[in-house]
Amino acid sequence: MDVVIIVAVAKDGGIGKDNDLMWHLPADMKFFRNQTWGHHVIMGRKNYESIPERFRPLPGRVNVVLTRNTHYEVPGGEVVHSLEDALELARNNGEQSAFVIGGGEVYRQALQQNLANKMYITHVEAQPEADTFFPKFAAFQWDAKVLEEHPADEKHAHRFTIVEYTRKN
Ligand SMILES: NC(=O)c1ccc[n+]([C@@H]2O[C@H](COP(=O)([O-])OP(=O)(O)OC[C@H]3O[C@@H](n4cnc5c(N)ncnc54)[C@H](OP(=O)(O)O)[C@@H]3O)[C@@H](O)[C@H]2O)c1
Repeated sequence: MDVVIIVAVAKDGGIGKDNDLMWHLPADMKFFRNQTWGHHVIMGRKNYESIPERFRPLPGRVNVVLTRNTHYEVPGGEVVHSLEDALELARNNGEQSAFVIGGGEVYRQALQQNLANKMYITHVEAQPEADTFFPKFAAFQWDAKVLEEHPADEKHAHRFTIVEYTRKN
């Protein structure tokens, strides 16, 4: 099973502020939706709660929410208490590509534990003030392929580039 990180990152590594995203980039949201559709999406409890109630659980995907709270409930989704359990759940369901969709704490663990073999990183040409960051990673361990370069336009305040990173063997 592939374990795929998907994230949008500012120039300084920022990914969020006040438990929210820092931009609205519809074309990137569409990319996220297309990539993750039909798959397991593994997320931290804070990220889950940052999704507006009417949009959660994310439709068309198995929502797997990580929390240490054994009483937590996710109607229409799954609750797990470790990243290992999240991946095991996906594997047991026959998943081919499980997506780690954040936030910062969950990305950090996935990278530290070398769990991911692929990453889709949207590099956003902006640097708004952030309080949550994507960890620095060893670029030399990954092959990078640019998938999409998107200009700023009336619907997108910032230019961004979507890069597919594949872990080198
Ligand atoms: N730019 C992007 O692409 C992107 C994507 C996703 C999120 N974000 C942003 O990231 C921010 C949220 O990130 P965050 O770092 O604050 O929080 P987070 O990673 O979303 O959630 C952290 C919580 O997840 C649970 N958790 C984490 N690791 C666990 C483990 N190993 N076992 C059990 N539970 C575990 C804990 O929940 P409990 O406290 O309940 O125990 C922990 O408090 C928001 O600003 C959001 O908008 C940005």
